[in-house]
Amino acid sequence: MLFIGADHGGYKLKEEVCNFLDKKGIEYNDIGTYSEESCDYPDIAQKLCEDVVNNRAEGILICGTGIGMSITANKVKGIRAAVCWNEFTAEMAKKHNNANILCMGARVLENEAAIRIVEVFLDNKFDSGGRHSRRVGKISEIEKKC
Ligand code: RB5
Repeated sequence: MLFIGADHGGYKLKEEVCNFLDKKGIEYNDIGTYSEESCDYPDIAQKLCEDVVNNRAEGILICGTGIGMSITANKVKGIRAAVCWNEFTAEMAKKHNNANILCMGARVLENEAAIRIVEVFLDNKFDSGGRHSRRVGKISEIEKKC
C-alpha cells in the first residue's frame, strides 16, 4: 500500500505524481491536500505517517522544499523519511536507509525529475542483512530511548 500527501506548495506536483501512478497501475491512497489553498504541512505529514505505520506501508510527502514534511515525519515512531533530490539519493534512501517515506520539494524539482525519483524509490528494496541492517537497527534503538 502506498500513501501520498502534500501541502499547498506540493499540491501540483502531487497531482503529477498521482497521474504517473495511475498510468503505471500503481495503487495509492491520496490523503490530500486537494487544492492550492494554504494549509499546514505538519497536519498532512502526521496523518500520512499514521497511515504508513498502521498499514506497514510506504509514503510520499511533498511540500515546497521537502524539509518541513521530513522533519515532521521523522518525529513519528517507525518512520524513516528521506528528502531526495535525484535518482541516486532515492536509491540510497531505500537500499541503505530503508526509508519508508520519500519527501520531495516541489519548489526545488522539475516534474520529470520528481517522477524519476518516485520510480527509483518504488523500484528499489532495502539491502537487508549486514551493515545496513545494523545501522538502521541503531536508529530504532535511539528512537526507543529518546
Ligand atoms: C509553504 O509555504 C512551505 O513552507 C512548505 O511547503 C514547505 O516548504 C516547508 O518546509
